[in-house]
Amino acid sequence: MSVAMVGAGQLARMSWQAAISLDVELVCLGAADDAAGRVGVEIVGGSGYDREALRELARRGEVLTYEHELLDLDALAAIEAEGVAARPSAGLLRLAVDKVHQRRTLSAWGVTVPAFDPAPDTSAVERFAARRQWPVVIKARSGGYDGRGVWICEDMTAVEAAFEQAERGALELYVEEGVPLANELAIIVARAASGEIAVFEAVDTHQEDGMCREVVMPTTVGSALASQARDVAVEIAERGELQGLMAVELFVNRRGELLVNELALRTHNTGHIHTEASRVSQFEQHLRAVLNLPLGDPARAVPAAAMVNIIGPADGSDPADRLAAGLQVRSAHVHLYGKSPRPGRKLGHVTVCAPTPDEALQRARLAAAQMQGDA
Ligand SMILES: Nc1ncnc2c1ncn2[C@@H]1O[C@H](COP(=O)(O)OP(=O)(O)OP(=O)(O)O)[C@@H](O)[C@H]1O
Ligand SMILES: [Mg+2]
Repeated sequence: MSVAMVGAGQLARMSWQAAISLDVELVCLGAADDAAGRVGVEIVGGSGYDREALRELARRGEVLTYEHELLDLDALAAIEAEGVAARPSAGLLRLAVDKVHQRRTLSAWGVTVPAFDPAPDTSAVERFAARRQWPVVIKARSGGYDGRGVWICEDMTAVEAAFEQAERGALELYVEEGVPLANELAIIVARAASGEIAVFEAVDTHQEDGMCREVVMPTTVGSALASQARDVAVEIAERGELQGLMAVELFVNRRGELLVNELALRTHNTGHIHTEASRVSQFEQHLRAVLNLPLGDPARAVPAAAMVNIIGPADGSDPADRLAAGLQVRSAHVHLYGKSPRPGRKLGHVTVCAPTPDEALQRARLAAAQMQGDA
């Protein structure tokens, strides 16, 4: 069997580890020196905005899937119409690419999302804040990641600064309520064309400067909210007739209500923990789902686990040079992405399984800190 994947970064690279076990061929769209290309994954050179490159990629696999959403959706829809099995479909992928469309669609499906409005100019934000309250959050309608394209604004001065920055990147913006956060969760659901659905346990996520830094399971929010998160994920997967994998990022506000922050229709940073902590990895589950194979068992396999990202240190040094220090931490599973180090760049992650979430987090933090050179 064969899968063609748009993107050749670390998610594609970890997908290959899963593909090897299933003897699934994987071909990725990107550059030879991308994280997946560097370990020998077959690469079709080009970008997701190039229709011919997409077409060439699609020819190389039974199904076409993605590790990121940076692609021309009209081109994707066109090749889908030519008979390519795009999973998830171009129509569903639009939900991940266009956050306003995502918010509107989810609202129409009865899913609770933060209140929002398009923000063509700063006065639209001013009106929104007057109707609701500060802070408000300005976001890029598409193309944002790791907190780039997210501005939490306490006043109009911050709003004007955000618009100035966005103008440089020619970004279309919208505004939403600043949710008073008690917790952030993420949950990953897989659905195959057969209709089979499998949901991983919800995990607690911790962001710093908008970037995911830590993930812990089991979640601390309690079983009622965890099962509500599960219901929301299943509802969206079924309504959207998902074929593939979807990550749902959720907010828990201080009133204990659950709101959907965003969707990613692919493997996700918050799902890395399942590689060691659950009975199937998100990467294998993704391949199974897009190939319409029976899904793996997403049950938690350990009492507790934590994942901590390894981020490029400010001095530009390479955490890979401190691998031995990270591996010294008992039962630390280190994953390095083979990317060149840059301050603030996600270069890898560490997962630790342990009897309690606190112990797992402590050891995963220690291993990541050792590798970042700050322990
Ligand atoms: N409306 C909001 N209210 C409060 N905090 C928010 C809000 N929107 C975003 N945040 C904070 O900023 C983080 C990043 O926001 P979001 O997930 O929308 O951006 P992103 O850059 O697309 O992230 P990702 O890297 O997950 O794609 C959130 O995880 C949350 O901590
Ligand atoms: Mg996010």
